[in-house]
Amino acid sequence: MYIGIDLGTSGVKAVLVDGAQEVLASRTEGLTVSRPHPGWSEQDPEDWWRAVLRCFAALREAEPVAFAAVRGIGLSGQQHGAVLLGEGGRVLRPCILWNDLRSGAECAEIERRFPRSREVCANIAMPGFTAPKLLWVAEHEPAVFAAVRHVLLPKAWVRYRLTGEMIEDMSDASGTLWLDVGARRWSDEALAVCGLSEAAMPVLCEGTDPAGRVVRDLASEWGWREPPVLAGSAGDNAAGAVGIGAIAPGSAFLSLGTSGVLWVTTDRLRLGTRSAIHAFCHAIPQTWHQMGVTLSAAASLVWWSRVTGVDEAALLEELPERIERPSEAIFLPYLSGERTPHNDPEIRGGFLGLSQDTTRAALTQAVLEGVAFSFRDALDGLRESGSVLTEADVIGGGSRSARWVRILSAVLDLPLHRLKHGERGGSFGAARLARMAVTGEAPAVVCGAPERVETVLPDPVLREAYAAVLPRYRALYPAVRGLVAKEDAGAEE
Ligand code: XUL
Repeated sequence: MYIGIDLGTSGVKAVLVDGAQEVLASRTEGLTVSRPHPGWSEQDPEDWWRAVLRCFAALREAEPVAFAAVRGIGLSGQQHGAVLLGEGGRVLRPCILWNDLRSGAECAEIERRFPRSREVCANIAMPGFTAPKLLWVAEHEPAVFAAVRHVLLPKAWVRYRLTGEMIEDMSDASGTLWLDVGARRWSDEALAVCGLSEAAMPVLCEGTDPAGRVVRDLASEWGWREPPVLAGSAGDNAAGAVGIGAIAPGSAFLSLGTSGVLWVTTDRLRLGTRSAIHAFCHAIPQTWHQMGVTLSAAASLVWWSRVTGVDEAALLEELPERIERPSEAIFLPYLSGERTPHNDPEIRGGFLGLSQDTTRAALTQAVLEGVAFSFRDALDGLRESGSVLTEADVIGGGSRSARWVRILSAVLDLPLHRLKHGERGGSFGAARLARMAVTGEAPAVVCGAPERVETVLPDPVLREAYAAVLPRYRALYPAVRGLVAKEDAGAEE
């Protein structure tokens, strides 16, 4: 028996998985994000811990016998967040999250101080990443910075609570801007840019490695006679990849979660910094991946639902069953700035092309299309950097919408496969990593691909119609970037 825990932004999800890879029980506990200033995004790590414990309690209640037989635990974590620990492992301030935008100036500073940053760390310095957050703290909260003894990513902190050990896997470490991503080791040069050294960093391992055991007291509290082994585990996208078997070079998927990710697995490090493509280690040894990240994917629809006061499913029901032509409106999905392809924390979203005849349904459709165009930018960036994509699986909550998948397939001009259990996310992949850490089985043995329940082929008429809208969508970013009002994102405490 294995537990997979996905430490997400909107919630912690845990699954209990048996030896036949059946999910016996599952529980999600919600989390909130605090936004003390515009553009800031923080969470209290203690809230994660409480949510993890509530998930354990729910799994134990649902399946007491199976729960008692748990041998391994895997973690899938929201990436990039900075958990700052002082003496004795005390948390010094709330975690600054992956979607926090405050550190734009610090990104420029990192690349100025370390001109080889893009080459060594394989990524553009973007405010989502961990290193600029540390520079921001050094500059704006010097007393906190002076007290920092260790920096952990969110899931490494949960592991620390479970095992007492500071260990991080390669896939998540890739999102710090302190990892030499090609060599799979911390970069002294990159750490020095932030006034840190390897002593502040967790020990590195592969996602499939055993990486700590639950401490005895906690294990006996939960009824585990033999304390379960923790897997090295993975960042949430890598865990999602493991969950759907995207481990062989060339396998691609599109994840329609809060943020949107277009992923391709690679057998070597392949840079794509020209279009703000991310290049990270996979959670599988000797494997890497590239991904384009759009910050507001399903988050755009959630926002639109909040604005209209209509729930998402009802909004989608207002659209024609089969979308036949593009909306007359264009939506820019830059509600939280954008990573791929612009790397611009200050840009914001918008609608264009509204008329007296524009309906709520037309705007809903524009929202889905704007996110799809943003994925198209990611696709072209991946191709430009040498990745070959001819089809992709589609996962995440948004993959449940047949209309959205049809739009995406036409905009991307790619066959998209909807999967059985495509909404499972990182928790299932985390449970697979737990199993590999315990049994030592090879990834190819454990990481099968789920059944494809439907293949959506690009509709030829719709594809042509979207190809005609794409240049207009692309012309909007340069046209509006100078017009967006600046938020007070760098406010002092
Ligand atoms: C990836 C990223 C997001 C978060 C979401 O670079 O920032 O996908 O990991 O949890």
